[in-house]
Amino acid sequence: MNIFLETYGCQMNVADSELVRAILVKSGHNLAKSVDDAEVILINACAIRENAYRKIYGRLDAFRPLQRKMKQDQRPFIVGILGCMAQNMKATLFRHPVVNLIVGPDNYRALPSLINKAALPQQGKRKPLEIEANLSEEETYSGITPARFDGVNAWVTVMRGCDNFCTFCVVPYTRGRERSRSKEEIIEEVHDLARQGFKQVTLLGQNVNSYRTDGAAFADLLLAAAEVQGIERVRFTSPHPKDFPEPLLEAIASHPKICKHIHLPLQSGSDRILKLMDRTYTQDEFIRLVEKIRAVIPGVSLTTDLITGFPSETDLDHQETIAAMEAARFNSAYIFKYSERKGTIAARKYSDDVSPEVKTKRIVQLFDLQHEIALELNREKIGQTMTVLIEGESDKRPGIQIGKTDGNMTVMFSETGLAPGEMIQIEMTEASPSVLTGRNLDLTVLSF
Ligand code: SAH
Ligand code: SF4
Ligand code: F3S
Repeated sequence: MNIFLETYGCQMNVADSELVRAILVKSGHNLAKSVDDAEVILINACAIRENAYRKIYGRLDAFRPLQRKMKQDQRPFIVGILGCMAQNMKATLFRHPVVNLIVGPDNYRALPSLINKAALPQQGKRKPLEIEANLSEEETYSGITPARFDGVNAWVTVMRGCDNFCTFCVVPYTRGRERSRSKEEIIEEVHDLARQGFKQVTLLGQNVNSYRTDGAAFADLLLAAAEVQGIERVRFTSPHPKDFPEPLLEAIASHPKICKHIHLPLQSGSDRILKLMDRTYTQDEFIRLVEKIRAVIPGVSLTTDLITGFPSETDLDHQETIAAMEAARFNSAYIFKYSERKGTIAARKYSDDVSPEVKTKRIVQLFDLQHEIALELNREKIGQTMTVLIEGESDKRPGIQIGKTDGNMTVMFSETGLAPGEMIQIEMTEASPSVLTGRNLDLTVLSF
């Protein structure tokens, strides 16, 4: 059958879609280029916040005319939800009239047979709903090579699940318990990726630095990946502040191919809120970790996630978040309004009592402060020369190429004639809160 797959959510879903593609192609299905060529539409969707749901409902509504047309033509038409949203939907018994397949993140091996089942001619008035959403304690999709698109970076899932149960978060319920892949299998995959021409790998996991197997800790895995010939940069996301032992910081500092960038989600600066979130650190402990990271890894860039308007958050708590941001000085931050998720500890224990207006007011303040800090940090880079890994052309500005610094900052510069995947020395000339602009210093390249 012709299958179209769309992906929403974080990099874990993006990486899982590559597994799904591999599973579908291996079982003889074709990948369609657009929904109009598809008999099966699969949506790998996220459940982290309410607006992720809203987006998907809108998308599903848009498939109704297509569903009617396929019915008239007497052709099969299947719409499936995959990913965290599927896992979560099972719990809420949500049903949309176009959806007839729900498959959770640990059940993708069953997709081909579920699609065949869903494609059987309709018996009753309404198609039955095929659901497979059982969390597994073992599934790591061992033995399946993700079907990746060509590019500079390859995502490599090294662990799945999360055992932290931060009270606001749905992930432990949608992705189940933590489990790690074997180091040997991961490193073999990185060798294959280098042979295919990928220059960067990003090790992925919801709690990537909790990676652990009998023989290896996360630092060992990072160092082994960085030793693979042909790989120029190794990144990782998303870590938790609780798992940064000294050997891990030293590994990052010591190896030139491990990028000097750490995403360190703070969530809140208030000790009271951090406790209600069950984040396991205080503001002071977090800032001490930031200082230690900066001492061990000079020039490191730090990014973060923040939630504003967690239940019972007062202006005083909000001021604490501002104080923590001023102390940590992150290079960038993803900032979200608290969104209550059914089934989480916070949803059961605390009422979502910060008004939408107050959440908006606070998030704007945090955005403004973060812009100011990022702009100051980026302006300090003007005049510096940095190694940039070229990623491609700018979509909006013809003749402009885009790349990333080791610290994961986006840099724009005039067309160099070099292909994505090449490294180049760029002198920074201008700065905005989110982008640096630079000049290509390797004039010999410009002359051919
Ligand atoms: N495992 C990662 C992040 C997972 S989700 C980590 O711990 O860092 C990405 C981000 O979404 C979180 O860091 C958090 O800031 C945000 N998030 C998660 N649940 C949320 C909720 N219920 N409301 C608002 N933001 C949320
Ligand atoms: Fe969610 Fe916390 Fe796990 Fe991150 S560490 S996925 S925020 S429960
Ligand atoms: Fe969303 Fe699942 Fe990722 S809930 S953020 S797609 S782990």
